[in-house]
Amino acid sequence: MTLIDHDLGTPAPKPSIRNGEQTAVEVTIDGVKISVAEGTSVMRAAALAGVDVPKLCATDSLDPFGSCRLCLVEIDGRKGTPASCTTPCTPGMTVSTQTPKLERLRRGVMELYISDHPLDCLTCAANGDCELQDMSGAVGLRDVRYGYDGDNHLSLGKDTSNPYFTFDSSKCIVCNRCVRACEEIQGTFALTIEGRGFGSRVAAGFNGNFFDSPCVSCGACVQACPTATLTENTVIELGQPRRTVLTTCAYCGVGCSFKAEMQGETVVRMTPYKNGGANEGHSCVKGRFAWGYANHQDRQLEPMIRESITDEWKKVSFDEAIAFAAGKLQSIQSRHGKYSIGAISSSRCTNEEVFVVQKLVRAAFGNNNIDTCARVCHSPTGFGLSNAFGTSAGTQDFKSVEYSDVILLIGANPTDAHPVFASRMKKRLREGAKLIVVDPRKIDLVKTAHIEASGFLQLQPGTNVAVINSLAHVIVTEGLADAKFITERCEPSEYAIWSEFVSRQENSPEAMEAHTGVPAAQVREAARLFATGGNGAIYYGLGVTEHSQGSTMVMGMANLAMATGNLGRDGVGVNPLRGQNNVQGSCDMGSFPHELPGYRHVSDDATRTMFEELWGTAIQSEPGLRIPNMFDNAIDGNFKGLFVHGEDIAQSDPNTAHVESALSSMECVIVQDLFLNETARFAHVFFPGTSFLEKDGTFTNAERRINRVRPAMRPQTGKHEWEIVCELANALGHPMSYNESSEIMDEIAALTPTFKGVSFARLDAEGSVQWPCNDANPHGTPIMHKEKFVRGLGKFTPTPYVPTEEKSTRKFPLLLTTGRILSQYNVGAQTRRTKNVAWHAEDLLEIHPSDALERGVRDGEEVTIASRVGNTVLRAQITERVAPGVVYTTFHYPISGANVITTDNSDWATNCPEYKVTAVQVSPGRSAATAELDHPAHRLSALVRMANQISRQFAADSSLDAVKATVAHLERFWEHEMRVDLAQAVEAGSITVDDIVVEAVRRLTVHA
Ligand code: SF4
Ligand code: SF4
Ligand code: SF4
Ligand code: FES
Repeated sequence: MTLIDHDLGTPAPKPSIRNGEQTAVEVTIDGVKISVAEGTSVMRAAALAGVDVPKLCATDSLDPFGSCRLCLVEIDGRKGTPASCTTPCTPGMTVSTQTPKLERLRRGVMELYISDHPLDCLTCAANGDCELQDMSGAVGLRDVRYGYDGDNHLSLGKDTSNPYFTFDSSKCIVCNRCVRACEEIQGTFALTIEGRGFGSRVAAGFNGNFFDSPCVSCGACVQACPTATLTENTVIELGQPRRTVLTTCAYCGVGCSFKAEMQGETVVRMTPYKNGGANEGHSCVKGRFAWGYANHQDRQLEPMIRESITDEWKKVSFDEAIAFAAGKLQSIQSRHGKYSIGAISSSRCTNEEVFVVQKLVRAAFGNNNIDTCARVCHSPTGFGLSNAFGTSAGTQDFKSVEYSDVILLIGANPTDAHPVFASRMKKRLREGAKLIVVDPRKIDLVKTAHIEASGFLQLQPGTNVAVINSLAHVIVTEGLADAKFITERCEPSEYAIWSEFVSRQENSPEAMEAHTGVPAAQVREAARLFATGGNGAIYYGLGVTEHSQGSTMVMGMANLAMATGNLGRDGVGVNPLRGQNNVQGSCDMGSFPHELPGYRHVSDDATRTMFEELWGTAIQSEPGLRIPNMFDNAIDGNFKGLFVHGEDIAQSDPNTAHVESALSSMECVIVQDLFLNETARFAHVFFPGTSFLEKDGTFTNAERRINRVRPAMRPQTGKHEWEIVCELANALGHPMSYNESSEIMDEIAALTPTFKGVSFARLDAEGSVQWPCNDANPHGTPIMHKEKFVRGLGKFTPTPYVPTEEKSTRKFPLLLTTGRILSQYNVGAQTRRTKNVAWHAEDLLEIHPSDALERGVRDGEEVTIASRVGNTVLRAQITERVAPGVVYTTFHYPISGANVITTDNSDWATNCPEYKVTAVQVSPGRSAATAELDHPAHRLSALVRMANQISRQFAADSSLDAVKATVAHLERFWEHEMRVDLAQAVEAGSITVDDIVVEAVRRLTVHA
């Protein structure tokens, strides 16, 4: 892996069908004959022939622009010197890239650039990685005839408003690459070139700075910039990287590939990898910039134990912690039976780590009490898609969207939650594909730069199934179904039952309008568009699954795709946008209590025998406990020990009071994590975890793509997580050992038919593969169900709409729904420990102006939000993004306690919690009901907000390190100590909340 990739200058021409035949064109460049696809630029053909034509405004991630005039060539039989980046090859073309005339012209161009450029190369951050410097060398520039004293831009100032990169306008050559990257790759259109001629300058937003512009900090412009104009602050601080490690982002389910560019074991920058299958060289703010948490001072690097959760933690050796944990678990099992303990695996961890955790449970605990955090997000996807198609996974790869004509986006907000995929989708929409959004909230994609949805079905929370049935009703009753596909690919009797069901009047848009709130005409129009508009693709997110009818809705979408023949080729399919980086993988790896790896039921004798023979132990044939059952059994006194691997269930699971009650009922809670999270407050053993920069293994993204996660540094804890899990199994009496994590993947491959062809060697050779990867598909399977479904014929299932029990009432008249914001991630454990807090320092409650007015709620003020299970306090944001009757919040901050109010309603099939519908009331201020919430944590949250503001204000001034240190200290204080020690101190009366606030403000004021 090289630090700097060979840039071919312009993108490859896109075939109309993926991997389809392209006409070849033969050209001769500097005497070298080369055959290229029709539409290839002369510049790219030359680069492929080993001739790099000098260039500045061209790069192979952007369409050619032709502004710098450095890439001029001479072509036999043509007049002049055309730009090679904008000139396509034609048959028989003979090109010269290096002639005395071209040399003279290029030098002249470079003279103009250099005469208006600060010549501080030796101290410039881009020294060694600057294309302007390289091109000066390439054209043999030795002097500037006009001198350096003419009009110039050398005194222009720097924009340091973005926390992660700096814009130094004095170094800008106005090549437009940043503007084009923002438009073509990211699709945000935040940048423009203002002025004309000599006065042309890059500007963010309306002449403002980057931070206040629409910029989403994806960094595409920084990556595209050929000079030091746009530079990562880490490069300015540390200098150029010296080595690179190819790895995978550990945030969302897009699974972007990155080059971790390093100096020793220090990350200098993360650069998205242009050959990464999921991201093709793009990233979002989290993957590119928000990795600082990996070295945050809050990280716990040593194992700790304590007898009681009211005791102080005691740091111990790994041996002591493992022996302590094993002793506790064995004691529990001897007194309460084999089934009294279990584990929760993590969708944040590698496949290899997840595999050994479920093996620990099945082989060393001797039961099937293993569940995963996927339970609370995408378990209905597994159930629904498996039922319809025979496989618990999405049908397409991300590239498929480039061939979609109509995109039906349901319960997903890709620009915030899956930003890199959103950019790919936006590109296709700008090319002319149509978009239908089904969501209670007006997400950005409904109307954003150069994009406007053709349909926006703003439904009431909890009525997805009603909408999908009414879409199907229109398609079937108006004769728009794909009869050929249905006849050839689906079970006829099941289709007959389903089509009769959806045709019923009760499922018509007109009948469902009363439930959904969506005008029937809009539904009819959307249905017609989806059925007749060409390749129709369905993309969906947690706004589908996290409902009491989550599994029903997944089946409903599968029905719709089959009815319209939208499966088995490019541009179509049913595509879950997975929340966490390895949700797909953790499910694949057998993390559910009823399934062994590869989605095979534990009751299947042949499968169990295979595992038993390799593992040398019996496996139970009865499914184990799901997470909610573990909690209920703990409260009932029957479940006493839990290993929580890389999850913060006390914050992420619904009905926090219930979760905390369950956790505090147990005798031994083991937490393995990077930080002492909320769950660790109830733990007796803490094992330190490793960040993605230290892990060695694989993640599987939302498109079933298995990507390598390679260690950029050694584990800071001294041990890989899988080693700790194996040592715990050994201490419990079941031998488990591997020399390398590749051996775990070998075991996975040996036991799992869909992974049979997967090995680290194959991944190293091919970059990534999408399962199934086996003898039939040795290079993986980008698109599933091409000729037939995995289950044979596709299965239609009637999906009656059953309104959720969680209804708005007189007492709780509003419906709360939840989601994510771009800069933060999940419970925020990582992103809150990065500079991303500059964009989102607290969770807000979005409320419609009419609901706010009715309640006397004012923008920016605190409101009490109460449901039937709890209440909390958030700051209100009045917006028409939400419809009247609906409120919305994120759950990135523990202090917000969003899950204090979500109920334990759940999906009928999988128990996935109904996070997306909670009946609530909102009232201004802190009501009497929240008096008990006048807790130090809430007082301190205001303080942290203020501290963040001060920190932002002075971020550019390094002399104010003391302020920043104080802020960091307060955040730590707030996060951990206060919750336990300080709260106790307050309760004991030894300190008052006011004392704390006054002291903190005094310290901040002194420093500021
Ligand atoms: S960081 Fe991304 S969104 Fe911001 S200006 Fe650059 S390309 Fe545009
Ligand atoms: S900021 Fe960089 S990429 Fe943008 S126009 Fe200037 S030199 Fe080109
Ligand atoms: S889109 Fe997801 S995987 Fe890609 S960089 Fe952003 S957070 Fe990471
Ligand atoms: S690289 Fe071709 S005109 Fe700039």
